[in-house]
Amino acid sequence: MQLDSFILANFKNYAHQRIECSPGLTCFIGRNGMGKTNLLDAIYYLCMGKSYFNMPDSLAVNHGAGFFRLEGHFVKEGKTERIVAKVIPRKKKELERNGTPYRRLSEHVGLLPVVMIAPDDTNLINEGSETRRRFLDNTLSQFDNHYLQQLITYGKVLQQRNALLKQFGENGGYNSALVEAYDRQMAGPAQAIYSRRKEFMAPFRQLLRQLYRDISGEAEEVDCQYVSKMEQAPIGVLLREAAEKDRVLQRTTAGPHKDDLEFTIGGYPLKRFASQGQLKSFVLALKLAQYRQLMEKKSVPPILLLDDIFDKLDHDRANHLLSLLMQGDFGQVFVTDTDEERLEAIIGKFNRQYLKYRIENGTAHKINGA
Ligand SMILES: Nc1ncnc2c1ncn2[C@@H]1O[C@H](COP(=O)(O)OP(=O)(O)OP(=O)(O)O)[C@@H](O)[C@H]1O
Ligand SMILES: [Mg+2]
Repeated sequence: MQLDSFILANFKNYAHQRIECSPGLTCFIGRNGMGKTNLLDAIYYLCMGKSYFNMPDSLAVNHGAGFFRLEGHFVKEGKTERIVAKVIPRKKKELERNGTPYRRLSEHVGLLPVVMIAPDDTNLINEGSETRRRFLDNTLSQFDNHYLQQLITYGKVLQQRNALLKQFGENGGYNSALVEAYDRQMAGPAQAIYSRRKEFMAPFRQLLRQLYRDISGEAEEVDCQYVSKMEQAPIGVLLREAAEKDRVLQRTTAGPHKDDLEFTIGGYPLKRFASQGQLKSFVLALKLAQYRQLMEKKSVPPILLLDDIFDKLDHDRANHLLSLLMQGDFGQVFVTDTDEERLEAIIGKFNRQYLKYRIENGTAHKINGA
């Protein structure tokens, strides 16, 4: 699978830009704030139907413009896939495949697997559980559309249940039969989400541990545990037990929307006990494990987007990372960097076909091809 070319219109700081891609490596080089990450995000958007950065679509519309449009020409299993995304603020976003609009955006997820590795991915460790669930959901959704559908259904019922609790809180009444009607609707999707996450995490955990060892060469053992209250009791019981609390807090406090991943190093919480370098290695291992899992499940290598990683990694780690990526049947890779020489020095070692672009204020110029 590969992206042949893509076109941005009014996307972030790009007015109009077409980019041809290398089947191997495509590099975007430029100073800070010029629009390198925006190009990776455009690619991510075409693959996932949304931005990598958890932000409203309207913010991605070029200042002063009334819409943005992205178009990507992919080839998958010998077939061309033309994907178009169009956003007009306050209107429903449009996503189409080969000229046919999707009825639901979720139908697109998984067609074109993608993994982004970005500097602020340490959020995965430092922030609240939501970022970790998003990581898990994002990975699973790309190879299991049924999971994604269950997740959407669960989210909808959860929202309704919360709205009802809020309404009771504000109006003073409470009707347990109405709440329990939602509990019954949540049970199926909640159980499905839990089982799938649990099943996924077992091999993922082993892969992560191995990749951490490969990247860091360190003696400390890291670990990643899936934490869910559903380990202890079925969702129906959990909801019933939490009913009084939910009533007081006016929101649902039990269920898979509370699950988390617990990261440790040498048995202690990673967030508090890992050094900066260990954190970086861990995040890389996490993302590479995601890449490997997707590759295995999809039987095509995902598109890999590496944002600024050489700036944030020391030389050894960057080399380790690249060697890992270049092993076996890796796929198409996009890289950004502020430093052309550094990039050359690193990628020059790997005899791969590549294209280079210089990025300046929302325009991209091809520098050379090799
Ligand atoms: N909706 C928008 N309209 C116009 N410009 C935007 C919009 N959204 C973001 N930008 C601009 O895009 C630029 C940032 O682009 P990007 O994050 O891709 O830079 P970068 O080249 O990756 O920089 P760095 O090296 O610092 O990571 C900023 O100048 C920002 O103001
Ligand atoms: Mg950037």
